[in-house]
Amino acid sequence: MNKPDVIHKAMEELDTVVGKERLVQESDICSLNYLKSCIREAFRLHPYHAINAPRVAMEDTTVAGYLIPKDSHVIVSRIGLGKNPRVWPEPLEFRPERHLNDGVGVVVLAEPDLRFVTFGTGRRGCPGVSLGTSFTMLLFARLLQGFSWTKPPGAGTVSLQESPTSLALAAPLVLQAKPRLAAHLYMEN
Ligand code: HEM
Repeated sequence: MNKPDVIHKAMEELDTVVGKERLVQESDICSLNYLKSCIREAFRLHPYHAINAPRVAMEDTTVAGYLIPKDSHVIVSRIGLGKNPRVWPEPLEFRPERHLNDGVGVVVLAEPDLRFVTFGTGRRGCPGVSLGTSFTMLLFARLLQGFSWTKPPGAGTVSLQESPTSLALAAPLVLQAKPRLAAHLYMEN
């Protein structure tokens, strides 16, 4: 809501790839690279939890030149990774385009290189990557395809301040939704 050009591009992609005659489906997700980039950007800037589940080093090891002695408790800062300026230029900017040409041309929500943590990686990585990607994308895509979103009259910039006790928004997000598809489509599924 704070980036009208981004929401405009996302809706344009939906209208081009899916159209307005049917609801977006799971099978469309692979073609919705701009929407996936929006979600990647949201995961990078606003991870579900501030830190990863703690790990204990079972033996001495070296990571990126740093010695991690056996029995160390290792806690990874997700917020720190996602906002690392050495990896992400202008890290606080919500800019989905940065993910579009980043890789092999297909945008995925997982980030095995751990430049930010979405699903983790390796033996204890999330086994729900596929389901997690599908429901996150489908919910987002349907909310965008199905409704035009506006802020209530008089509302300013949406505050992204997080609550001090969790990473939920400190103030609830209040928006107005106006249907933008034919009425019968809302009865399906
Ligand atoms: C967008 C949705 C989701 C996100 C962002 C997510 C993220 C994560 C992350 C970061 C971890 C920890 C990985 C690590 O410590 O290296 C994890 C673990 C796990 N996730 Fe997910 N997850 C999602 C959805 C799901 C779903 C849908 C399922 C099950 C159907 C699931 C099941 C699990 C389980 C069982 C683990 C523990 C794995 C282990 O410790 O061996 N997750 N998830």
